[in-house]
Amino acid sequence: MPIFLDTGNIKEIEKYLKMGIIRGVTTNPTILLKDGVTGGMKGIRSRSIEIARLIDPLPLSVEVTTNDPLQMRSQAQELSALAPNINVKITIHGPNGELQNLEVIHELEAERNIRVNATAMMSAQQCLLAAMAGATYVSLFGGRIANMGYNPCEEITRLRKVLDDFNLNAKIIIGSTREVLNIIEWLGSGAHFVTVVPNLLEGMIVHPYSKETVRMFLADAAKIEAQLEADHSFPTEKRNDNKDEVIITYSKQQPVIHEHKAQI
Ligand code: E4P
Repeated sequence: MPIFLDTGNIKEIEKYLKMGIIRGVTTNPTILLKDGVTGGMKGIRSRSIEIARLIDPLPLSVEVTTNDPLQMRSQAQELSALAPNINVKITIHGPNGELQNLEVIHELEAERNIRVNATAMMSAQQCLLAAMAGATYVSLFGGRIANMGYNPCEEITRLRKVLDDFNLNAKIIIGSTREVLNIIEWLGSGAHFVTVVPNLLEGMIVHPYSKETVRMFLADAAKIEAQLEADHSFPTEKRNDNKDEVIITYSKQQPVIHEHKAQI
């Protein structure tokens, strides 16, 4: 069940949900801002409820908006209580490398029964520690890793190996998609899920040569259809010719397009 949608846009979610090709949705404050959410926590709450209901029972990730450990805990409590399919995103550490977030992740999962998506991670080693702390999902940012000059596929493969080797339950979500090729490549490297921005999902579906092939099918189907109309609009003449009945069919282009003997 490998594809999540990385968006806060209701129309995009509806579109791909109806196609049956997404298995969850991920958001973050940057995505929600881009997708028109305003009004602070109130706005985030209401868009989260809307998405969660729409995709239920598929999972939705919603990120806390603070790096204060106490507020993170209370926001996590609040967001996860909005709907049973909401999990809470907590970044691996603070903006200056503060270390308190792993403690928060551990407490939310182990003591408060809240599903956590540990996020903003750029390496397998960060994800390994978040998995050990108990995170349900570990989010690796493939596009950003590549932008720093490292190969995200290698990080994914390494991470998947240690998770499997040590029986850690966390599932790898790889996000920060930049190119259509990322999706199949990252899944092939061992990611459990890739969270994809909507325009790349469309790019996965549409292929120029498929367009050309579909056009050919439709054009030829139209010719068959035209032929059927021609056959119907011109009479079939029957006459006896040495015991066999001869059937002559007329069309607009040619007076006689075929002549064959029917068995009597
Ligand atoms: C993943 O869950 C994140 O929402 C997202 O993929 C971040 O990607 P970005 O690098 O485009 O911000």
